[in-house]
Amino acid sequence: MRGFGFMEHGGTDRLAYVEIPEPAPGPEEVRIRVRAAAFNHLDRFTLGGIPGVPIALPHVLGSDGSGTVDQVGEGVRDLPVGTKVLLNPGMWDGTCPACVAGNEALCRNYRILGEHTQGSMAPFVVVPRRNVHPLPDGMTFVEGAAAPLVFLTSWRALSTVGAVRPGERVAVVGAGGGVPTAAVQVAKLLGARVAVVSRSASKEDRARAIGADAFLVISENRPLDRALWEWSEKNGVDVILDSVGAPTLPRSIRALARGGRVVVMGATGGATAELDVRTLFWRQASIRGTTMSSRAEFLEVYQHLAEGRLKAVVDTAVPFARAEEAFRRFDAPDLFGKIVVQDPPG
Ligand SMILES: NC(=O)c1ccc[n+]([C@@H]2O[C@H](COP(=O)([O-])OP(=O)(O)OC[C@H]3O[C@@H](n4cnc5c(N)ncnc54)[C@H](OP(=O)(O)O)[C@@H]3O)[C@@H](O)[C@H]2O)c1
Ligand SMILES: [Zn+2]
Repeated sequence: MRGFGFMEHGGTDRLAYVEIPEPAPGPEEVRIRVRAAAFNHLDRFTLGGIPGVPIALPHVLGSDGSGTVDQVGEGVRDLPVGTKVLLNPGMWDGTCPACVAGNEALCRNYRILGEHTQGSMAPFVVVPRRNVHPLPDGMTFVEGAAAPLVFLTSWRALSTVGAVRPGERVAVVGAGGGVPTAAVQVAKLLGARVAVVSRSASKEDRARAIGADAFLVISENRPLDRALWEWSEKNGVDVILDSVGAPTLPRSIRALARGGRVVVMGATGGATAELDVRTLFWRQASIRGTTMSSRAEFLEVYQHLAEGRLKAVVDTAVPFARAEEAFRRFDAPDLFGKIVVQDPPG
């Protein structure tokens, strides 16, 4: 079958449609006929090559997907062929101490669809039964593909790791990526007052439309810490979700309230930052890392999506034949939400 990915690691010039064998479901696995698949920043890292993550080439990208059940493997009895579904992109072994304790995000064998395995950007994808969930009523395939990864990550980041409490001030660094458009909604749902920090004023209306209470444009003259200090009326911010990394993290730390938390889950702008350690103990602040989610966290966020309290923001949804062009939207300054491709033929 023909998927979208690459033959060898590199930059976007390596993106290609590639041939891989049609997968067959093993025991407790399900084969999905993909109807929509969404890109994540992770696809860029996978394309570039991630140290310590060897992958088979050619490789098909895509951690997020939705579609219909096409075949089920031995032992799967509760999922009729034809059921409309969406996928949880995180996979765990279910047997290590973290899994047994219900903290699958810390699984020593944690894997992500499309990173460690062939991904969703193909006519068919095979995943464990426990990663397959009915597409909620009223949700389109495009929304079902756009939502999971960014919402499950934002949910764990803010609810569990950030421990956001109602009434706290939360800042989301960046406006337009998939993570910010999910995180703003999650922070509002948790009862926080939410500011979005962006380099570009043009996204303000869209950020406010999904719940942002404040939109702060940052620049050299008005850096992030100053903007957040003003917004918080010199109290500091309780929780800052910073996935930009080097260019913003030191300033995020300076903008914290006493007892504040910076939650990090990405390093889009660079991975190495300097930090004044004193800021942490003076403020009794902390930096907390997070990745993906546990099964319970996924199910919580799934319920909110199913009942309409959270909703995927879709920037672009295009036919599969335009996947390469769609991928390039990651670099568009006006990007706002998820990039989705539809209906891979085959
Ligand atoms: N650990 C995990 O489980 C996990 C899961 C999902 C995502 N992530 C990571 O989280 C990050 C966010 O992902 P995303 O899909 O939302 O995409 P993204 O492309 O990183 O977008 C996030 C936003 O960051 C801002 N930004 C980007 N570069 C910047 C820079 N140099 N300086 C200041 N702001 C900058 C942009 O906002 P403005 O243009 O509005 O300023 C952009 O819209 C990625 O690094 C991704 O790998 C991690
Ligand atoms: Zn495990």
